[in-house]
Formats: sequence, C-alpha cells, structure tokens
Amino acid sequence: MFKIGVLVSGGGTNLQAIIDSIKNGYIKGAEISIVISNKEGVYALERAEKAGIDNIAIASKDFNKFEGYEKEVIKKLRDKEVDLIVLAGYLKIVSQDFIDLYPNKIINIHPSLIPSFCGMGYYGLKVHEEALKRGVKITGATVHYVTEGADEGPIIIQKAVEVKQNDTPEILQKRVMEEAEWVIFPEAIKMIVENTLTP
Ligand code: GRF
Repeated sequence: MFKIGVLVSGGGTNLQAIIDSIKNGYIKGAEISIVISNKEGVYALERAEKAGIDNIAIASKDFNKFEGYEKEVIKKLRDKEVDLIVLAGYLKIVSQDFIDLYPNKIINIHPSLIPSFCGMGYYGLKVHEEALKRGVKITGATVHYVTEGADEGPIIIQKAVEVKQNDTPEILQKRVMEEAEWVIFPEAIKMIVENTLTP
C-alpha cells in the first residue's frame, strides 16, 4: 500500500477531494496514513476523523523554535513510513532539511497558474485579488513539487480556469477550487502512485 501523509492548516477541501478519490477508486492502491495540522481545531482534522483517518494537531505556536515544531511533524511522518507528503492548504514553510529527507516526495497545490501570482505572501484570497486586479482573463491552479523557494519547484499539472466579468475574489476562488484544484490534485497523486510521472 502506498502511504500518503497530508499536511493542512485550514478547511481541508483539497484533503476532502483526495479522501473521496481514494474512496471512489479513482486513486487505487493508496491510503492516507496521517493528516497533520499545525493548528488545533481546524475543520480539516474533522474531515479526517469522519473518514476514519489518523489525525493530529501539532500546534506550531506551542514551540519556541520552528525547528522544534517541524521535527515533531517529521517524526510523525517517519513513524507512519509515508511515501508521499501532500501539502493541502498548509501555511507553513517547509525547511530544506525536511525537503532533503523527502526528495521529490513533497507536493503542493497553488491556486494560480505558476509563475503568475505566486511566491511569498501569495496565499488564500490574496492570489485571486491580485489576479482580478491585473485583469487576467484566465487563471487556474498548479500542482508542483516542493523545493526551497516558495512555489518554485517543478510543475506537475496545471489547469486553466476562466475569469468572468463581475468575479469577486471569493467567487473566483470557489471556481478555481471546483474546476481545477479538486481535479488536478487527485490526478497528480494518482500519477505519482501509479508511477506514470517522470520527475
Ligand atoms: C487552496 O486554495 C489551496 O490551493 C491553497 O490553500 C487553499 C486550501 O484550501 N494552497 P483547503 O484547506 O484545501 O480548503
């Protein structure tokens, strides 16, 4: 069985898309072994619980140093012997030490067509606000490998989404999630599990 560890910080709709894709057989031969949140009480943990998936909050704010926090996360992932780490709305930086332990085994989703509207500070609604401000007609989402620079790793899949007149950041965010994120994240994971992707 291919083992996946998912790191989250919030609502977990992308986590849900992955849970559903395993449940309905789109992704075969894989399981989510652990869901880790850096915050307590986030809805993503409840989603994991409801699906019967082992889950834990390792509250980053309880640690004096980021390294101490991340060590705990890594320990948990190692205990579970995960083959792939999926950052699904995870709002913490991943250190170089962490990346070195899992080369080409950490993936992230970003709600724009990289290299547009990405990098430091581009997360959540801000991405969509900037896309609307710039007046792009097409935006989308990107699944990529995680390397040291924010949103700089090799791209795995992208999907375009139309920007419509009168879009607000909230409306655009929802369309990007529904039409792109929840589609290409499971797709990327399926390709990795089936080993049909050359990094
Ligand atoms: C998504 O827009 C994702 O692209 C970004 O953070 C958001 C997380 O949403 N990295 P959710 O927690 O999966 O609902």
